Amino acid sequence: MNLIVWIFTHKLLVVLIAVIISLALSTIILAIENRKLRNEIDELIAKETNLTEMNKYRLPGMVKPILYELYFYPNLSTGLFKGKVDISVDILSTTDSISLHSHTLNIDNVHISSENGTYSLDQSYQLLTIRKTDQSNFTPGKENLQIEFSGDMKNRIVGLYTSSYKDANGESRRMATSKFEPTYARQAFPCFDEPNMKAKYKVHLLKPKDNSYIALSNFPVSNITDYDKENQLVSFEETVSMSTYLSCFIVSDFAHTETSFNNDGKMIPLKVYASPDNLQKTQYAGEVGKKVIEYYVNYFQIPYPLPKLDMVAIPDFVSGAMEHWGLVTYRETALLYTNTTHSTINKQRVTTVVAHELAHSWFGNLVTMNWWNDLWLNEGFASYIQYKGASAAEPTWGLLDQFMLDLHAALNFDSRLSSHPIVQTVLTPDQISEIFDLISYKKGASILRMLENTVKETTFQQAVKNYLNLYAYKNAITEDFLDEVQKLVGTVLNVKELMETFTVQMGYPILTVTRSGDEYTLTQKRFLADSTASFNKSDSAYRYRWSVPVTYITDLGKSSSFVLFNYNADSIKITRPTGAKWMKFNHDQIGYYRVNYPKAEWDDLIAHYGNFSVADRTHLLEEAFSIAEADLLDFEVPLELTKKLSAEFDYMPWSVAYIKLRSILNHLKWSGSDQEAAFKKYVIDIVSPAYNNFSWNETVDYSHLDRLARIEIFYLACLVDHEACLSEAQSYFNRWLKTRQPITPDLRRIIYSNGMKKANKTTWDALLEIYKNETDASERLKLMKGLTSIENEDILKKLLELAKDETLVRSQDFFSVVQFISINPSGTDLVWNWVRSNWDYLVHRFTLNDRYLGTLIPEITSTFATQERLTEIEEFFKEHPNAGAGVASRARALEKVKHNILWLSKNKKTVEKWIRKNSVL
Ligand SMILES: *[C@@H]1O[C@H](CO)[C@@H](O)[C@H](O)[C@H]1NC(C)=O
Ligand SMILES: *[C@@H]1O[C@H](CO)[C@@H](O)[C@H](O)[C@H]1NC(C)=O
Ligand SMILES: *[C@@H]1O[C@H](CO)[C@@H](O)[C@H](O)[C@H]1NC(C)=O
Ligand SMILES: *[C@@H]1O[C@H](CO)[C@@H](O)[C@H](O)[C@H]1NC(C)=O
Ligand SMILES: *[C@@H]1O[C@H](CO)[C@@H](O)[C@H](O)[C@H]1NC(C)=O
Ligand SMILES: *[C@@H]1O[C@H](CO)[C@@H](O)[C@H](O)[C@H]1NC(C)=O
Ligand SMILES: *[C@@H]1O[C@H](CO)[C@@H](O)[C@H](O)[C@H]1NC(C)=O
Ligand SMILES: [Zn+2]
Repeated sequence: MNLIVWIFTHKLLVVLIAVIISLALSTIILAIENRKLRNEIDELIAKETNLTEMNKYRLPGMVKPILYELYFYPNLSTGLFKGKVDISVDILSTTDSISLHSHTLNIDNVHISSENGTYSLDQSYQLLTIRKTDQSNFTPGKENLQIEFSGDMKNRIVGLYTSSYKDANGESRRMATSKFEPTYARQAFPCFDEPNMKAKYKVHLLKPKDNSYIALSNFPVSNITDYDKENQLVSFEETVSMSTYLSCFIVSDFAHTETSFNNDGKMIPLKVYASPDNLQKTQYAGEVGKKVIEYYVNYFQIPYPLPKLDMVAIPDFVSGAMEHWGLVTYRETALLYTNTTHSTINKQRVTTVVAHELAHSWFGNLVTMNWWNDLWLNEGFASYIQYKGASAAEPTWGLLDQFMLDLHAALNFDSRLSSHPIVQTVLTPDQISEIFDLISYKKGASILRMLENTVKETTFQQAVKNYLNLYAYKNAITEDFLDEVQKLVGTVLNVKELMETFTVQMGYPILTVTRSGDEYTLTQKRFLADSTASFNKSDSAYRYRWSVPVTYITDLGKSSSFVLFNYNADSIKITRPTGAKWMKFNHDQIGYYRVNYPKAEWDDLIAHYGNFSVADRTHLLEEAFSIAEADLLDFEVPLELTKKLSAEFDYMPWSVAYIKLRSILNHLKWSGSDQEAAFKKYVIDIVSPAYNNFSWNETVDYSHLDRLARIEIFYLACLVDHEACLSEAQSYFNRWLKTRQPITPDLRRIIYSNGMKKANKTTWDALLEIYKNETDASERLKLMKGLTSIENEDILKKLLELAKDETLVRSQDFFSVVQFISINPSGTDLVWNWVRSNWDYLVHRFTLNDRYLGTLIPEITSTFATQERLTEIEEFFKEHPNAGAGVASRARALEKVKHNILWLSKNKKTVEKWIRKNSVL
């Protein structure tokens, strides 16, 4: 369809024409040619968003960077830096100005191909606009922009920033490092800071001459020359073409261990860097990295594209890790591991985070989403493929099944009106920051898993390979990937349509089963945590219906393929295989949907609980509870199901049970129910067999999954005041405090937190001193968990204030501390009051663009269940209307509290009645 026909077939015609006329003619031509932009305009029309406004945040697109020759002169002692950049650009059409991004930088000088230029800065849109001094036009062709700039690296954790750590002598050592995704490269150097503005980089970094200092960037060092008495200039090889957010620059005195991996026959060096005292903790990440990347080279059938791979543990890091190409950076807790200090959970985290980041070398770095709207192409993929990579490194950990726990998180988040479609228009830096959420990561991963299961593994893998080859060093949109799958699948299934029902609209369906003899009839509707919530079906092109690949399992085996429930069909029928004793839909919970049955079918499934795989058992528990929480199933069903837990010893079912039982416990506690104690007694009864199955003694050699199960089960037992659990924890704690003999790392968190509950001030102070002395990041978090677990409110109040001190709590950990205190029932109200009265402080320190500040509100209010609290939250939002990157988070907080209130009115009585019947004190 040509542009004119297209315009006239759409509404908002007048606005659009006005806007288009106001744009330069050349832009119109580009727009016609650029189907990606058109795709965005389509979305904008659908949402009636302001295109004029959007254009102010986006670069015009008529100037493309080709090469950045970049010099950085960081000064580690002053925390300031200078820089200069020579950007070779290609001008595609005549323009009077060139706009690129710059934010929080001082611009000291601007030249255009050795002429002086003039420039202006626009703070709100973070733009630097350059013109020729004589106001003449830039004509199509090559041009060079030379910009000198300077900035501050202190008191920040994005852009180019300083981080520090204490060495063995307790001396503070500083480093310079960077983190740019999504919109912070512009805080380090003026650049075309959009993911589809790929360019090459020639980097030069100043570092102290002192030999202990190194400089790192995405590519290997090419040359080191003396700069002045104290400093050297380190030059790096020219990079391949890549997005700005993937560049990275580090100057530090770190040490490294080294291994190498086989890249299609050629060995590539893999180095893991950390502060020198942490050197021996880098070994494990190196081993995992090697295995994972060799797996990926084989899986994608595309060699790792760069000449080296470094991974670095950064003491101050805002997120978990960042996939800078060839120079991946991590929080210390996500990279460092040693079996004497770290737990099984820590170990699994290192494995999965490394596998996630290295997957990005292909997904995200080699092929990048065209714009942040399609962030899930990066993050959903990495979040799915990471399980394959990690499983290749640690095949005995049951990781492919463990994926379900991510699926559950996505299903929970996505069952609310405050969710959003996977593919969503984002314009501003705040909107871009906020979309790095569970939907992009875990829902994205979940629907890929469903897709793979539907089209089969080899087809999926081949499509992935084709997609990566086709768009290598370029950008892509969701449709581009689905096209590759569709080509291989042919006409037997409309893959694009199936996937679109899950990507362009939020939410997912619940299939309701009715049975007549051996015939099952399934209907679908949108699943909402609050099934009474109303929404407008016409908000979505698919009217909130989905194309669902339905699978099932019976005692005779799994369905060999799927039955398609097309989004426009009213219902489907599935016949129970002859002679089957039971039938469960969505085997191993691979599909992104829920299934509800008639009561008799639920009873039947519960009766056969012991016959199911771990995945199906985990699924049944999660599903029964979630459907009952939405008031679509009598709460007695999941409660009856929990009786089966007394013969359950596996990690995943207990992990689900922990979450669901704790939620009931919270509801009973906060509503002052007289059945709280009886419910705890019931949980003690069902958890005791599993509890007795495990020992506190660290000499027992458990498997990885058993270790995870032990942690989960002990946590639950102590939570419900299981006497032996509490007294073991207390006596381990007391003994440890006295002798400081190390406890097995797996049980430290349980022991510190339970041991501290009833502690007095003297004991708390002693633990604080231990915490202050501790240098290991993971151990510090466990000790902090202990400090936040005390019941004494005055001490908790004091701790909240202490946490403002960065020498005590790094900025990266601040929100964890607040959350830990909030989880402690003695701290829940305290934190809510404190956050409200310290809001200005928080906004000033972290900025509204910080997505963790945004998610803080739903986290600390998640157990509130009264109208009074709801009103307080609403009033707080009214007082502070600017939500920054927390818009959806605020909506989520309100929705959750409303749902809690509803839960009490609908389910409390049923649950209490069931407890009376099933638990005697
Ligand atoms: C769109 O944004 C522009 C610039 O921000 C503003 O002047 C205009 O009024 C907006 N239009 C609408 C329809 O909101
Ligand atoms: C550029 O500006 C500097 C001062 O900022 C001036 O000395 C120089 O003559 C100018 N060069 C040109 C080509 O205009
Ligand atoms: C390294 O830098 C020195 C000094 O600037 C220069 O003479 C030499 O040619 C450079 N070597 C390479 C390989 O670029
Ligand atoms: C830690 O690992 C080493 C080497 O694999 C092993 O010899 C040692 O027993 C382990 N220690 C613990 C506490 O698991
Ligand atoms: C742990 O088990 C070992 C060997 O069975 C035993 O010698 C030791 O006393 C036990 N330790 C504790 C704290 O129970
Ligand atoms: C604090 O608790 C510890 C351990 O229970 C105990 O030994 C100590 O006497 C208590 N101190 C005070 C001042 O109560
Ligand atoms: C802190 O570390 C120092 C030096 O290692 C040690 O002497 C001191 O006892 C430690 N304090 C605590 C509370 O662990
Ligand atoms: Zn990622």
